[in-house]
Amino acid sequence: MTYDRAYWEGLWAKTLREHPDKVARRPPNAHLITEIASLRPGRVLDAGCGHGAETLWLAAHGWTVTAVDFSASALAHARSTAEALGPEIAARITWVEADLGAWTPPRAQFDLVVCLYVHVAGSVDETVRRMASGVAPGGALLMVGHRPIDPATGKPTAASGQVQVSVESAVAALDRSAWELVVAEERPRAIAGTGVDAVVLAKRVM
Ligand SMILES: C[S@@+](CC[C@H](N)C(=O)[O-])C[C@H]1O[C@@H](n2cnc3c(N)ncnc32)[C@H](O)[C@@H]1O
Repeated sequence: MTYDRAYWEGLWAKTLREHPDKVARRPPNAHLITEIASLRPGRVLDAGCGHGAETLWLAAHGWTVTAVDFSASALAHARSTAEALGPEIAARITWVEADLGAWTPPRAQFDLVVCLYVHVAGSVDETVRRMASGVAPGGALLMVGHRPIDPATGKPTAASGQVQVSVESAVAALDRSAWELVVAEERPRAIAGTGVDAVVLAKRVM
């Protein structure tokens, strides 16, 4: 399986066509809500925003969001959902269609960069560093990956075959003289048997 633009575009087009109700019901990510609860809203990058559940939640909570994905269908859906929520929320979001395998955020421009469950096509180390380069001093980076094997059962998860960040890979990519680790842990998913999430929250100290 190749998790490239054609794969994701096909998956989003099919999912949005066949299960729009399920997509609309999907709540924003629980790790995001928990980990950024104490942060003051500012500029945030949602890298791999999908259908926009987190982007919309962030905009509704006062953040100015740059939302990047390479699926045109997911972005179109997200944009129209934002517009339906009203001009105030829609105006806080900039939608960018780009490939995160190559796209580099503007340097040190964000108070928060989030990258949730994105398959990494190249090197994890390089991807984490590239996403981290967008964080301004004093800002934060939240990376979350679904691990491919469920440690409780030893069985493959829905992320099997994908390369997503692990705690070790994300931590290893961050220069500890510039980053303070706030969270670096694996958390079991709510539904038993669906595996664990690697959650890394780091604060840029310089
Ligand atoms: C598993 S979904 C996660 C979406 C969202 N972050 C969430 O937590 O629900 C992965 C998303 O990353 C996007 N994606 C994967 N690889 C990408 C890449 N190289 N460039 C841009 N977007 C990518 C896909 O289109 C998809 O929307």
